[in-house]
Amino acid sequence: RIAYVNGTFLPLEEASIPVMDRGFLFGDGIYEVTALIEGRLADNEAHLQRLDRSLREIGIPNPYSPAKWTAIQNELITRNGLLEGLIYIEVTRGVSERDFLSPADLKPTVVMFTQAKPVRANAALSKGADVITVPDLRWARRDIKSVSLLAQVLAKRAAAEASASEAWMIEDGVITEGASSTAFIVTQADEIVSRPLSHAVLPGVTRRAVLRLVEEKNLTFVERTFTVEEALRAREAFFTSASTIVMPVVSIDGQPIGTGKPGPLALELRELYIKTLL
Ligand code: PDD
Repeated sequence: RIAYVNGTFLPLEEASIPVMDRGFLFGDGIYEVTALIEGRLADNEAHLQRLDRSLREIGIPNPYSPAKWTAIQNELITRNGLLEGLIYIEVTRGVSERDFLSPADLKPTVVMFTQAKPVRANAALSKGADVITVPDLRWARRDIKSVSLLAQVLAKRAAAEASASEAWMIEDGVITEGASSTAFIVTQADEIVSRPLSHAVLPGVTRRAVLRLVEEKNLTFVERTFTVEEALRAREAFFTSASTIVMPVVSIDGQPIGTGKPGPLALELRELYIKTLL
C-alpha cells in the first residue's frame, strides 16, 4: 500500500511521523474520510469543505487548495489501484517541542492513505446493524472532525463487547449521534427524523446527501432530537456515514426496531444515494 506524507508518496510501512508531532502528543489535528465506489469519490467536495472548516475552527492553516487535495487523492488512488474503499486524510498542527502552545509558523503535517474495503456490497446489510447506547463522553465541539477520538474508541469497544456494530451516544436524555455515524429514525407517522446541526454533532456529509434525496422524494424530514424510547417505537432506524453509506438498524440495546429486519426506506435511500454517485 502506498501512503502520502508531507508531499511524498511511499510504501505505508515506510511512512512515519516524528514522535514530537502534535497529532500524536495532543490529538491536535483533524481528519476526513471519503468513500470510493467504482473508482469515484463520493461527495468529495463536501468532505474537503468540512476539512477546511475543521482546520479553520482550530486555527491550523489549510496547506492545500481543494484542487491540490483532489489531485493528491486521485494520485494515491491510482498508485494503489483502488476501485472501492476509503481514503483517509489527517492534518495535524505539526512538529514542535512538547508544549501546549506551538510556534506560530509551524508547518502542518499531512498524512493520507487508502483502505480497500467493500463499501457498496457491505456484508452487514442483509442482516442490518445492532446498536447499543452509551453515554456521550465527548467534548463540546463535535462539529469539528477532531482526531481526538478516545470516547468513540471506548464506545465502539462497548459495542463490540455486546456484539453490536455501532454505539449511539446519549446526552441529556436524547441521542446525539453514532460513534462514527449520524443517527436517524423513521416514525410511525413516516417522518424521517435526525437531530439538527449544532456544536453537539458532526455535520455529516452523508446526512446532507440523504436529506436532499428525502426532499426529492417529497418525504417529510424533521430536524429534532429524539430519545431512545422514541427510537424503540420507530418504524425504522438507520445511520449514515461515508464508510457505511446508509445502514439499517435492526435493534437498539437488544430490542428489535420495527420488524427486526432492515427497513425498506433505509435500503431505498441507500440505493438512491449510490445511484447519484455513479
Ligand atoms: N465518521 N458523526 C460522527 C461522530 C462521525 O465520526 C461520522 C463519520 C459521521 C458521519 O459523517 P459523514 O457522513 O460525513 O461520513 C457522523 C467517519 C466515517 C469515520 O470516523 O471513520
